[in-house]
Amino acid sequence: MAEIQLRNLSKRWGSFVGVNNFDLAIEDKEFLVLLGPSGCGKTTTMRMIAGLEDATEGDILIDGARVNDLEPKNRDVAMVFQSYALYPNMNVYENIRFPLRVRGIDPALHKERVMQAAERVELLDFLDRKPAALSGGQRQRVALARAIVRKPKVFLMDEPLSNLDAKLRVSTRAQIKNLSHDLAATTVYVTHDQIEAMTLADRVVVMKSGIVQQVGSPTEIYDTPANTFVASFIGSPAMNLIDGELVDGKFSAPNVAITGLTGGNGKVTLGFRAEDATVVEQKGEMNAPIYTLELLGDATMVSVRIGGQLVAVKADKTFRSDIGDPVSIHIPAEHCHLFDTETGLRVQS
Ligand SMILES: Nc1ncnc2c1ncn2[C@@H]1O[C@H](COP(=O)(O)OP(=O)(O)OP(=O)(O)O)[C@@H](O)[C@H]1O
Ligand SMILES: [Mg+2]
Repeated sequence: MAEIQLRNLSKRWGSFVGVNNFDLAIEDKEFLVLLGPSGCGKTTTMRMIAGLEDATEGDILIDGARVNDLEPKNRDVAMVFQSYALYPNMNVYENIRFPLRVRGIDPALHKERVMQAAERVELLDFLDRKPAALSGGQRQRVALARAIVRKPKVFLMDEPLSNLDAKLRVSTRAQIKNLSHDLAATTVYVTHDQIEAMTLADRVVVMKSGIVQQVGSPTEIYDTPANTFVASFIGSPAMNLIDGELVDGKFSAPNVAITGLTGGNGKVTLGFRAEDATVVEQKGEMNAPIYTLELLGDATMVSVRIGGQLVAVKADKTFRSDIGDPVSIHIPAEHCHLFDTETGLRVQS
Protein backbone atom coordinates (compact mmCIF):
# COMPACT_ATOMS: atom_id res chain seq x y z
CA MET A 1 0.00 0.00 0.00
CA ALA A 2 1.47 3.33 -1.01
CA GLU A 3 -0.16 6.66 -1.44
CA ILE A 4 2.12 9.49 -2.56
CA GLN A 5 1.35 13.11 -1.82
CA LEU A 6 3.20 15.91 -3.52
CA ARG A 7 2.45 19.16 -1.74
CA ASN A 8 3.38 22.38 -3.52
CA LEU A 9 6.57 20.79 -4.74
CA SER A 10 9.01 23.11 -6.50
CA LYS A 11 12.53 22.80 -7.81
CA ARG A 12 14.63 25.82 -8.69
CA TRP A 13 18.24 26.22 -9.69
CA GLY A 14 19.04 29.88 -9.06
CA SER A 15 16.28 31.79 -10.80
CA PHE A 16 15.48 28.92 -13.19
CA VAL A 17 12.29 27.08 -12.31
CA GLY A 18 12.37 23.37 -13.21
CA VAL A 19 9.15 22.40 -11.43
CA ASN A 20 6.65 24.90 -10.10
CA ASN A 21 4.18 24.16 -7.31
CA PHE A 22 3.35 20.56 -8.20
CA ASP A 23 0.42 19.57 -6.00
CA LEU A 24 -1.14 16.14 -6.35
CA ALA A 25 -2.22 13.08 -4.39
CA ILE A 26 -1.34 9.84 -6.16
CA GLU A 27 -3.59 7.03 -5.03
CA ASP A 28 -2.51 3.63 -3.82
CA LYS A 29 -1.96 1.29 -6.83
CA GLU A 30 -2.55 4.11 -9.26
CA PHE A 31 -0.68 4.19 -12.58
CA LEU A 32 0.11 7.88 -12.99
CA VAL A 33 1.80 9.18 -16.15
CA LEU A 34 3.71 12.47 -16.31
CA LEU A 35 3.47 13.69 -19.89
CA GLY A 36 4.97 16.73 -21.55
CA PRO A 37 7.58 17.99 -24.00
CA SER A 38 11.32 17.84 -23.42
CA GLY A 39 12.44 20.02 -20.51
CA CYS A 40 9.00 20.40 -18.88
CA GLY A 41 10.19 18.94 -15.55
CA LYS A 42 9.11 15.30 -15.70
CA THR A 43 12.42 13.74 -14.71
CA THR A 44 13.01 16.39 -12.07
CA THR A 45 9.64 15.60 -10.45
CA MET A 46 10.43 11.90 -10.49
CA ARG A 47 13.93 12.40 -9.10
CA MET A 48 12.49 14.40 -6.20
CA ILE A 49 10.12 11.53 -5.38
CA ALA A 50 13.04 9.06 -5.55
CA GLY A 51 15.20 11.30 -3.36
CA LEU A 52 17.86 11.83 -6.04
CA GLU A 53 17.07 15.55 -6.14
CA ASP A 54 16.25 17.83 -3.19
CA ALA A 55 13.02 19.78 -3.39
CA THR A 56 13.49 23.54 -3.13
CA GLU A 57 10.03 23.86 -1.61
CA GLY A 58 7.17 21.61 -0.67
CA ASP A 59 6.66 18.19 0.86
CA ILE A 60 6.70 14.61 -0.39
CA LEU A 61 4.69 12.14 1.66
CA ILE A 62 4.56 8.38 1.20
CA ASP A 63 1.71 6.80 3.14
CA GLY A 64 1.33 9.98 5.12
CA ALA A 65 4.95 10.18 6.27
CA ARG A 66 7.16 13.01 5.06
CA VAL A 67 10.14 11.55 3.19
CA ASN A 68 11.96 14.72 2.06
CA ASP A 69 14.84 13.99 4.40
CA LEU A 70 15.07 10.24 3.79
CA GLU A 71 17.89 8.77 1.70
CA PRO A 72 16.73 7.25 -1.60
CA LYS A 73 17.40 3.73 -0.32
CA ASN A 74 15.11 4.30 2.65
CA ARG A 75 12.10 5.38 0.59
CA ASP A 76 11.16 1.90 -0.70
CA VAL A 77 10.99 3.25 -4.23
CA ALA A 78 12.39 1.46 -7.30
CA MET A 79 13.35 3.51 -10.32
CA VAL A 80 13.80 2.39 -13.91
CA PHE A 81 15.93 4.88 -15.80
CA GLN A 82 15.80 5.84 -19.43
CA SER A 83 19.40 4.65 -19.74
CA TYR A 84 18.75 1.33 -17.90
CA ALA A 85 21.94 1.81 -15.83
CA LEU A 86 22.86 -1.89 -15.75
CA TYR A 87 26.17 -3.07 -14.27
CA PRO A 88 28.27 -4.08 -17.30
CA ASN A 89 30.46 -6.54 -15.38
CA MET A 90 27.56 -8.47 -13.89
CA ASN A 91 25.49 -11.01 -15.77
CA VAL A 92 21.73 -10.73 -15.97
CA TYR A 93 21.19 -12.85 -12.86
CA GLU A 94 23.50 -10.70 -10.73
CA ASN A 95 22.07 -7.48 -12.13
CA ILE A 96 18.58 -8.53 -11.13
CA ARG A 97 19.81 -9.77 -7.75
CA PHE A 98 21.73 -6.59 -6.94
CA PRO A 99 18.93 -4.72 -5.08
CA LEU A 100 18.37 -7.73 -2.83
CA ARG A 101 22.03 -7.70 -1.82
CA VAL A 102 22.07 -3.96 -1.23
CA ARG A 103 18.99 -4.14 0.93
CA GLY A 104 20.30 -7.02 3.00
CA ILE A 105 17.56 -9.48 2.05
CA ASP A 106 18.22 -13.02 3.35
CA PRO A 107 20.45 -14.68 0.69
CA ALA A 108 18.45 -17.91 0.97
CA LEU A 109 15.57 -16.07 -0.71
CA HIS A 110 17.54 -14.53 -3.56
CA LYS A 111 17.38 -17.31 -6.11
CA GLU A 112 13.62 -17.72 -5.98
CA ARG A 113 13.00 -13.99 -6.14
CA VAL A 114 15.40 -13.46 -9.06
CA MET A 115 13.93 -16.39 -11.00
CA GLN A 116 10.40 -15.10 -10.44
CA ALA A 117 11.29 -11.63 -11.67
CA ALA A 118 13.23 -13.00 -14.65
CA GLU A 119 10.34 -15.22 -15.60
CA ARG A 120 7.90 -12.31 -15.45
CA VAL A 121 9.85 -10.44 -18.09
CA GLU A 122 10.85 -13.53 -20.10
CA LEU A 123 14.57 -13.45 -19.37
CA LEU A 124 15.13 -16.98 -18.11
CA ASP A 125 17.21 -17.90 -21.18
CA PHE A 126 19.57 -14.98 -20.70
CA LEU A 127 20.60 -15.15 -17.05
CA ASP A 128 24.28 -15.85 -17.79
CA ARG A 129 24.77 -13.08 -20.31
CA LYS A 130 26.39 -9.73 -19.66
CA PRO A 131 24.41 -6.60 -20.68
CA ALA A 132 26.71 -5.99 -23.66
CA ALA A 133 25.49 -9.26 -25.17
CA LEU A 134 21.82 -8.27 -24.97
CA SER A 135 19.56 -6.36 -27.32
CA GLY A 136 18.07 -3.03 -26.24
CA GLY A 137 14.73 -4.64 -25.46
CA GLN A 138 16.37 -7.36 -23.37
CA ARG A 139 18.39 -4.79 -21.41
CA GLN A 140 15.17 -2.92 -20.83
CA ARG A 141 13.61 -6.03 -19.39
CA VAL A 142 16.61 -6.59 -17.08
CA ALA A 143 16.05 -3.08 -15.73
CA LEU A 144 12.37 -3.90 -15.19
CA ALA A 145 13.19 -7.19 -13.47
CA ARG A 146 15.67 -5.40 -11.22
CA ALA A 147 12.92 -2.99 -10.21
CA ILE A 148 10.27 -5.64 -9.50
CA VAL A 149 12.56 -8.10 -7.72
CA ARG A 150 12.44 -6.20 -4.44
CA LYS A 151 8.67 -5.64 -4.43
CA PRO A 152 8.88 -1.94 -3.67
CA LYS A 153 5.94 0.20 -2.60
CA VAL A 154 6.46 2.56 -5.50
CA PHE A 155 7.73 2.19 -9.06
CA LEU A 156 9.19 5.17 -10.85
CA MET A 157 9.81 4.71 -14.56
CA ASP A 158 11.50 7.39 -16.63
CA GLU A 159 10.89 6.90 -20.36
CA PRO A 160 11.67 3.19 -20.10
CA LEU A 161 10.70 2.51 -23.72
CA SER A 162 12.48 5.38 -25.42
CA ASN A 163 15.44 3.33 -26.67
CA LEU A 164 13.32 0.63 -28.28
CA ASP A 165 12.19 0.41 -31.89
CA ALA A 166 8.55 1.04 -32.71
CA LYS A 167 7.44 -2.58 -32.65
CA LEU A 168 9.24 -3.45 -29.44
CA ARG A 169 7.82 -0.34 -27.80
CA VAL A 170 4.32 -1.59 -28.42
CA SER A 171 4.96 -5.09 -27.07
CA THR A 172 6.97 -3.88 -24.05
CA ARG A 173 4.28 -1.29 -23.34
CA ALA A 174 1.72 -4.08 -23.17
CA GLN A 175 4.06 -6.01 -20.89
CA ILE A 176 4.47 -3.06 -18.52
CA LYS A 177 0.73 -2.57 -18.33
CA ASN A 178 0.15 -6.24 -17.58
CA LEU A 179 2.99 -6.25 -15.03
CA SER A 180 1.75 -3.21 -13.19
CA HIS A 181 -1.75 -4.66 -13.05
CA ASP A 182 -0.43 -7.86 -11.46
CA LEU A 183 1.98 -6.19 -9.06
CA ALA A 184 -0.63 -3.64 -8.00
CA ALA A 185 2.09 -1.19 -6.97
CA THR A 186 1.78 2.57 -7.21
CA THR A 187 3.55 3.62 -10.40
CA VAL A 188 4.71 6.99 -11.67
CA TYR A 189 5.69 6.76 -15.31
CA VAL A 190 7.33 9.51 -17.34
CA THR A 191 6.97 9.88 -21.09
CA HIS A 192 6.78 12.50 -23.80
CA ASP A 193 4.79 10.09 -25.97
CA GLN A 194 1.10 10.82 -25.70
CA ILE A 195 0.08 7.40 -27.03
CA GLU A 196 2.07 5.72 -24.28
CA ALA A 197 0.38 8.00 -21.76
CA MET A 198 -3.11 7.32 -23.09
CA THR A 199 -2.64 3.55 -23.21
CA LEU A 200 -0.97 3.06 -19.81
CA ALA A 201 -2.37 5.64 -17.44
CA ASP A 202 -5.13 5.64 -14.88
CA ARG A 203 -4.49 9.38 -14.79
CA VAL A 204 -2.28 11.62 -16.87
CA VAL A 205 -0.55 14.78 -15.68
CA VAL A 206 0.21 17.07 -18.62
CA MET A 207 3.13 19.42 -17.88
CA LYS A 208 4.64 22.39 -19.66
CA SER A 209 7.58 24.52 -18.51
CA GLY A 210 7.46 23.04 -15.01
CA ILE A 211 3.75 23.77 -14.59
CA VAL A 212 0.94 21.23 -14.43
CA GLN A 213 -1.57 21.99 -17.19
CA GLN A 214 -4.17 19.31 -16.49
CA VAL A 215 -4.67 16.16 -14.45
CA GLY A 216 -7.26 13.64 -15.56
CA SER A 217 -8.06 10.22 -16.95
CA PRO A 218 -6.96 9.66 -20.55
CA THR A 219 -10.58 10.13 -21.64
CA GLU A 220 -10.96 13.41 -19.75
CA ILE A 221 -7.73 14.78 -21.17
CA TYR A 222 -8.70 13.72 -24.68
CA ASP A 223 -12.36 14.79 -24.57
CA THR A 224 -12.09 17.97 -22.51
CA PRO A 225 -8.62 19.45 -22.77
CA ALA A 226 -8.22 22.31 -20.29
CA ASN A 227 -6.34 24.54 -22.71
CA THR A 228 -4.95 24.74 -26.24
CA PHE A 229 -1.59 23.32 -25.11
CA VAL A 230 -3.21 20.09 -23.91
CA ALA A 231 -5.48 20.04 -26.98
CA SER A 232 -2.52 20.26 -29.30
CA PHE A 233 -0.38 17.79 -27.33
CA ILE A 234 -2.87 14.91 -27.05
CA GLY A 235 -4.12 12.94 -30.04
CA SER A 236 -2.66 11.88 -33.35
CA PRO A 237 -3.16 14.06 -35.24
CA ALA A 238 -3.44 16.77 -32.58
CA MET A 239 -6.73 18.63 -32.21
CA ASN A 240 -7.31 21.12 -35.03
CA LEU A 241 -7.22 24.69 -33.74
CA ILE A 242 -8.58 27.63 -35.73
CA ASP A 243 -8.50 31.26 -34.57
CA GLY A 244 -11.65 33.22 -35.35
CA GLU A 245 -14.57 35.11 -33.90
CA LEU A 246 -17.72 34.04 -32.13
CA VAL A 247 -20.85 36.20 -32.59
CA ASP A 248 -24.22 35.03 -31.28
CA GLY A 249 -23.24 31.38 -31.40
CA LYS A 250 -21.71 31.58 -34.85
CA PHE A 251 -18.01 30.96 -35.32
CA SER A 252 -16.34 32.59 -38.32
CA ALA A 253 -12.84 32.29 -39.73
CA PRO A 254 -11.62 32.38 -43.34
CA ASN A 255 -13.42 29.51 -45.17
CA VAL A 256 -15.14 28.41 -41.95
CA ALA A 257 -18.63 29.15 -40.55
CA ILE A 258 -20.17 27.07 -37.77
CA THR A 259 -23.50 27.86 -36.11
CA GLY A 260 -25.15 26.53 -32.96
CA LEU A 261 -22.24 27.10 -30.58
CA THR A 262 -22.51 28.44 -27.04
CA GLY A 263 -20.14 31.02 -25.61
CA GLY A 264 -19.65 34.76 -25.24
CA ASN A 265 -18.99 36.99 -28.22
CA GLY A 266 -15.38 37.79 -29.12
CA LYS A 267 -12.16 36.28 -30.33
CA VAL A 268 -11.99 32.53 -29.78
CA THR A 269 -9.98 29.53 -30.87
CA LEU A 270 -12.13 26.71 -32.15
CA GLY A 271 -10.94 23.13 -31.73
CA PHE A 272 -12.16 19.88 -33.24
CA ARG A 273 -10.65 16.46 -33.79
CA ALA A 274 -9.94 14.99 -37.21
CA GLU A 275 -12.23 12.02 -36.55
CA ASP A 276 -15.17 14.21 -35.52
CA ALA A 277 -15.45 15.90 -38.93
CA THR A 278 -16.51 14.34 -42.21
CA VAL A 279 -16.05 15.07 -45.89
CA VAL A 280 -19.41 15.91 -47.49
CA GLU A 281 -20.58 16.57 -51.04
CA GLN A 282 -21.40 20.24 -50.40
CA LYS A 283 -22.53 22.84 -47.87
CA GLY A 284 -20.11 21.80 -45.14
CA GLU A 285 -19.03 24.28 -42.46
CA MET A 286 -15.53 24.44 -43.93
CA ASN A 287 -14.72 24.77 -47.62
CA ALA A 288 -11.17 24.97 -48.95
CA PRO A 289 -8.80 23.43 -51.48
CA ILE A 290 -7.07 20.21 -50.43
CA TYR A 291 -3.53 20.85 -49.20
CA THR A 292 -2.51 17.21 -48.92
CA LEU A 293 -3.95 13.70 -48.81
CA GLU A 294 -2.46 10.86 -46.79
CA LEU A 295 -3.51 7.24 -47.24
CA LEU A 296 -3.35 5.64 -43.79
CA GLY A 297 -4.86 2.29 -44.71
CA ASP A 298 -7.87 2.42 -42.41
CA ALA A 299 -8.67 6.02 -43.39
CA THR A 300 -7.63 8.83 -45.69
CA MET A 301 -6.38 11.97 -43.94
CA VAL A 302 -7.39 15.12 -45.79
CA SER A 303 -5.66 18.40 -44.87
CA VAL A 304 -6.62 21.93 -45.79
CA ARG A 305 -5.01 25.23 -44.86
CA ILE A 306 -7.06 27.65 -42.81
CA GLY A 307 -5.45 30.97 -41.90
CA GLY A 308 -1.98 29.48 -42.32
CA GLN A 309 -2.80 26.47 -40.10
CA LEU A 310 -3.12 22.91 -41.36
CA VAL A 311 -6.45 21.36 -40.46
CA ALA A 312 -6.83 17.57 -40.74
CA VAL A 313 -10.00 15.59 -41.33
CA LYS A 314 -10.29 11.83 -41.32
CA ALA A 315 -12.18 10.69 -44.41
CA ASP A 316 -13.31 7.23 -45.43
CA LYS A 317 -10.48 4.94 -46.53
CA THR A 318 -11.92 4.88 -50.04
CA PHE A 319 -11.91 8.68 -50.35
CA ARG A 320 -9.78 9.85 -53.27
CA SER A 321 -9.19 13.34 -54.63
CA ASP A 322 -6.31 15.54 -55.72
CA ILE A 323 -4.24 18.25 -54.11
CA GLY A 324 -5.86 21.58 -54.96
CA ASP A 325 -9.35 20.11 -55.48
CA PRO A 326 -12.07 21.82 -53.46
CA VAL A 327 -13.40 19.88 -50.49
CA SER A 328 -16.38 20.51 -48.24
CA ILE A 329 -16.22 19.44 -44.60
CA HIS A 330 -18.96 18.99 -42.03
CA ILE A 331 -17.95 19.95 -38.49
CA PRO A 332 -20.76 19.14 -36.04
CA ALA A 333 -21.21 21.91 -33.46
CA GLU A 334 -21.52 19.36 -30.65
CA HIS A 335 -17.96 18.19 -31.31
CA CYS A 336 -16.46 21.66 -31.22
CA HIS A 337 -14.31 22.97 -28.37
CA LEU A 338 -13.87 26.67 -27.69
CA PHE A 339 -10.81 28.27 -26.13
CA ASP A 340 -9.98 31.84 -25.19
CA THR A 341 -7.51 32.97 -27.85
CA GLU A 342 -5.59 35.19 -25.42
CA THR A 343 -5.17 32.77 -22.51
CA GLY A 344 -5.66 29.47 -24.34
CA LEU A 345 -8.06 28.35 -21.59
CA ARG A 346 -11.15 26.32 -22.35
CA VAL A 347 -14.26 28.52 -22.29
CA GLN A 348 -16.92 25.90 -22.87
CA SER A 349 -17.39 22.50 -21.26
N1 LIG B 1 20.99 20.32 -12.42
C1 LIG B 1 20.29 21.20 -13.14
N2 LIG B 1 20.63 22.53 -13.15
C2 LIG B 1 19.92 23.43 -13.85
N3 LIG B 1 18.85 23.12 -14.61
C3 LIG B 1 18.47 21.84 -14.65
C4 LIG B 1 19.17 20.81 -13.93
N4 LIG B 1 18.55 19.62 -14.18
C5 LIG B 1 17.53 19.90 -15.03
N5 LIG B 1 17.49 21.24 -15.31
C6 LIG B 1 16.51 21.90 -16.18
O1 LIG B 1 15.21 21.70 -15.67
C7 LIG B 1 14.27 21.54 -16.72
C8 LIG B 1 13.51 20.26 -16.53
O2 LIG B 1 14.38 19.18 -16.74
P1 LIG B 1 13.85 17.68 -16.74
O3 LIG B 1 15.03 16.78 -16.88
O4 LIG B 1 12.98 17.47 -15.56
O5 LIG B 1 12.98 17.66 -18.07
P2 LIG B 1 12.15 16.47 -18.70
O6 LIG B 1 10.73 16.88 -18.72
O7 LIG B 1 12.49 15.19 -18.04
O8 LIG B 1 12.69 16.48 -20.22
P3 LIG B 1 13.08 15.27 -21.21
O9 LIG B 1 11.78 14.81 -21.84
O10 LIG B 1 13.98 15.93 -22.20
O11 LIG B 1 13.76 14.20 -20.41
C9 LIG B 1 15.08 21.58 -18.02
O12 LIG B 1 14.96 22.85 -18.58
C10 LIG B 1 16.50 21.31 -17.55
O13 LIG B 1 17.45 21.93 -18.40
MG1 LIG C 1 13.51 13.48 -18.67
